[in-house]
Amino acid sequence: MTDGIWEYEGYDPVDERLRESLCTLGNGYFATRGALPECTADDVHYPGTYIAGCYNRLTSEVAGRQVENEDMVNLPNWLPLRFRLDGGQWLTPDTATVLDHRQLLHLASGLLERWTRYGLGEGRVLVVRQQRLAHMADPHVGALRTEFTAEGFSGELQVEAALDAGVTNSGVARYRDLDGRHLIHVHTGTATTDTVWLRCRTRTSDIRIGIAARLTADAPATVRHEGRRAVQEVRLHLAEGRPVVIDKTVALHTSRDPAISDPLYAATHRVGRAPGFDILVDDHLTAWDQLWRRADLDVPGESGRVLRLHLFHVLQTLSPHTADLDVGVPARGLHGEAYRGHVFWDELFVLPYLNLHFPEVSRALLRYRHRRLEQACTAARDAGRRGAMFPWQSGSDGREETQQLHLNPRSGRWLPDHSRLQHHVGSAIAYNVWQYCEASGDAEFLHTKGAEMLLQIARFWADAAVYDEGLRRHRIRGVVGPDEYHEAYPDATRPGLDDNAYTNVTASWVLSRALELVDLLPEPRRRELVERTGLDGGELEQWEDISRTLHVPFHEGVISQFEGYGNLAELDWEGYRESYGDIRRLDRILEAEGDSVNRYQASKQADVLMLGYLFSPAELRGLFHRLGMRLDEDTWIRTVDYYLRRTSHGSTLSGLVHGWVLARCRRSEAWKFCQEALQGDIADVQGGTTGEGIHLGAMAGTLDLVQRGLTGLETRSGALWLDPVPLPELSSYGFAMRYQGHWGVGLRLQRGQMEIIVPSSEESPIDVRLPDRAVRLEPGETSRLALLE
Ligand code: BGC
Repeated sequence: MTDGIWEYEGYDPVDERLRESLCTLGNGYFATRGALPECTADDVHYPGTYIAGCYNRLTSEVAGRQVENEDMVNLPNWLPLRFRLDGGQWLTPDTATVLDHRQLLHLASGLLERWTRYGLGEGRVLVVRQQRLAHMADPHVGALRTEFTAEGFSGELQVEAALDAGVTNSGVARYRDLDGRHLIHVHTGTATTDTVWLRCRTRTSDIRIGIAARLTADAPATVRHEGRRAVQEVRLHLAEGRPVVIDKTVALHTSRDPAISDPLYAATHRVGRAPGFDILVDDHLTAWDQLWRRADLDVPGESGRVLRLHLFHVLQTLSPHTADLDVGVPARGLHGEAYRGHVFWDELFVLPYLNLHFPEVSRALLRYRHRRLEQACTAARDAGRRGAMFPWQSGSDGREETQQLHLNPRSGRWLPDHSRLQHHVGSAIAYNVWQYCEASGDAEFLHTKGAEMLLQIARFWADAAVYDEGLRRHRIRGVVGPDEYHEAYPDATRPGLDDNAYTNVTASWVLSRALELVDLLPEPRRRELVERTGLDGGELEQWEDISRTLHVPFHEGVISQFEGYGNLAELDWEGYRESYGDIRRLDRILEAEGDSVNRYQASKQADVLMLGYLFSPAELRGLFHRLGMRLDEDTWIRTVDYYLRRTSHGSTLSGLVHGWVLARCRRSEAWKFCQEALQGDIADVQGGTTGEGIHLGAMAGTLDLVQRGLTGLETRSGALWLDPVPLPELSSYGFAMRYQGHWGVGLRLQRGQMEIIVPSSEESPIDVRLPDRAVRLEPGETSRLALLE
């Protein structure tokens, strides 16, 4: 691979789904998987196009039960473009001879290029070169240029381009028992001689979709409307060695778009006005240039290349266009159908990165949550609680979308899913509100929507906490922590665990921040909030008390993941590794054996250790101090070692958090986990899951690993805190960020030295705090600081 180009050589059906995910093109509004246009969905290929926030709900019968699921809808496929010699077979890499095949993802320009040489026998070769884009300046436009060259012959080529609504959601094998037919009322038509259209609706959410396609070729197109497809056909005359070009330009709209009347009209109108491919590319390149200037991370070597790929996919899922949409952070990007396009807590790994480059995007993603605050308050009320209970999985309207049953593919059994008890998602939202406001200085958001969310999340925790006379502490019972393996005590009849340390410490943090915020609010605003929420002095006193008395269990001198974790059986890790090799999904292995992971001290991913990911050592010490406990360095190191030995890393987030936490502890194993996070998707570490969509949290998390993890960067109490840790394998890096109104604040670390550049502006100076000194940098000033070893 050359720098900035992600390249695949040869055709391998086994790898195709992974490539399709990693070669997805998107612009924050829509994304299309990198499938070959001449192929339709089957066991090898899965073309998928998704528009952010376009969901539909269907009911299916599974294991004798009616289950309802909301899915991000696979939209009509705009890619189809197939070709054959007169009277021959349609050419695909599965049916014809592939002499050469290359796929190149150009990261700098956001173009996907493919180049294939099909052998046609008797020395005849058809060369197919394609370039495609999901337009970064006009997010409703996609384009595909195809160039055919005949080698060793001249002749007629039949080319068929289509818009195809005969698609279903069938990209994830585990979900195939579920109804995936989301599109109804499909109609196709002809707009002009070169343009066809397709419109349809989603079955229950009733979103109207309009797509139009314009075909530009040297020969006129004939049009057929057959069933759910609008087909344009051209016959191209190929003269030996002379490339012939055909361009397909499409526009997509839905009834969720602002500033349109009708999606079909908007799509046909837009495609009619769209310039030709070359000009489209020029504008697209300018938009990508601007993105890279705001986001780029300068890391040398192979790690730098992988980080650029991660950044590319983050920007394709969450771009400045996202700032205009009502959407959240889809855990698997817009790259596939795993987790049904749902929004989990993964924004905790994404927003801290975006805050320092695209604060307007972070704000929009927080507004997605704020618009669903009322729904979260209703959910809390229905559960007999006060405040806001945000759903573990969220989709269109913010109701709880976590599946009721999930399939263990190993045993074939459908099992109850209690992961919805991960109420810690609320703390992730609160954390992001705080982080976003600290980084951007957006007091308006903090005092209005931010405060409304923070206060209701704090209220939920205060109400969930019950006082235990025996312990003389508050407890939060019946929850599930980030480690999803443990959903219940062994043999318990009810799901949920007590005193999850991560939940309780972060709840205490939320309560403290809420109290701080109430103090900080301008008086008229405080009064408004008090009037609106009924908050009174008594409630605030209660928050103060609970924030200091939440129970955090310990055993054997380490923080317990939850009360009783230390009493669970020890797993024979070596034995299981020997028997099964890959034991990341230990939960599935044990269930298939008729056992349960609930019985063991075995975690799927970082749970207690997440505390070291969210908080710097000083902040974490402070939090424990507030709780009346001492967390010294030895206890933390023991805790890190304890869980490291008992974690199977069944989530891509696990490698990332462990890499981060170990790097912060200056431990040599850190790199192994950082590598795992870097390799997560490109090497498909979780065994085939990347083909179903990228892991956006881990991708963005690796960017933030450099940005905040290695530098120790915190935006706290109005200052920029830095406390770099060495990671020998990643020792020189630099990036520029937006911070409190400053654009392009540069940070570069190299050979034990840190350079901070504050560009000239009218903004206030920046207070920088390092462990051993404090400096104040004026706009236009550069500071070079030698780092302590
Ligand atoms: C992880 C969760 C995560 C979800 C979506 C799961 O495998 O355990 O922490 O939120 O994937 O990425």
